[in-house]
Amino acid sequence: MTTTDDHAQKPPRKDPWELPDVSGLVVGVLGGTGDQGRGLAYRLALAGQKVIIGSRAAERAAGAAAELGHGVEGADNAECARRSDIVIVAVPWEGHKALLASLREELAGKVVVDCVNPLGFDKKGAYALTPEEGSAAEQAASLLPDSRVTAAFHHLSAVLLQDPDVESIDTDVLVLGEARADTDLVQALAQRITGMRGVFAGRLRNAHQVESLVANLISVNRRYKAHAGLRVTDV
Ligand SMILES: NC(=O)c1ccc[n+]([C@@H]2O[C@H](COP(=O)([O-])OP(=O)(O)OC[C@H]3O[C@@H](n4cnc5c(N)ncnc54)[C@H](OP(=O)(O)O)[C@@H]3O)[C@@H](O)[C@H]2O)c1
Repeated sequence: MTTTDDHAQKPPRKDPWELPDVSGLVVGVLGGTGDQGRGLAYRLALAGQKVIIGSRAAERAAGAAAELGHGVEGADNAECARRSDIVIVAVPWEGHKALLASLREELAGKVVVDCVNPLGFDKKGAYALTPEEGSAAEQAASLLPDSRVTAAFHHLSAVLLQDPDVESIDTDVLVLGEARADTDLVQALAQRITGMRGVFAGRLRNAHQVESLVANLISVNRRYKAHAGLRVTDV
């Protein structure tokens, strides 16, 4: 039986839009020389975030960082991971497992944000692959037991992110993870980018659908010659 007293002792429900200040955190982007990594690095740096892009080759990262400007630095992936507080994984699915397995130590204690979409392509277009672990994000979590693994930024257009003439990125970002403190951080990071909103979308066991949905967005883009984003209504 609950009494009035029990209700009185319950902490007030937290406002889901009350998010932490992440402006002082260093953001690393593994595979940051690619389209998605460059795009995210550009937008976050434009918002005033300190960003380090990583690469398998430090000089490639340095070159891409110099092109991006806005204080972006380049480093090899290991140094990028070591120096960052939040690390976005933006490498192709094919390289995901080996790269994360090699960075377990550097990524320990860090918030890792996986945005990898395991996809195949054939003459019918894009289709979702099903990783053994369930999703790329769950593979990351199993490879990085000492990290705070989340998943987000799957449905962005790297073309729009990189286009300096596009002022606002009109999309929601679905954020998944096991701990509210971690997903709140990533939502707050998404919110640093003009036009973007981070929306909590569940635990990592539901990352597969989110990663797979990109195959549908690619079909939308092809039919309508668009760079489609997503909006979640009524939140
Ligand atoms: N493009 C988009 O619009 C978009 C949107 C949302 C999510 N994503 C996801 O973001 C990830 C990156 O996409 P992208 O289009 O940027 O890909 P990308 O340009 O093909 O690759 C990104 C970078 O990853 C590194 N890389 C390539 N193969 C690798 C390997 N085997 N092992 C380790 N690193 C490797 C390369 O950097 P170095 O050679 O310098 O190491 C490359 O510049 C993908 O998983 C994709 O599903 C992409």
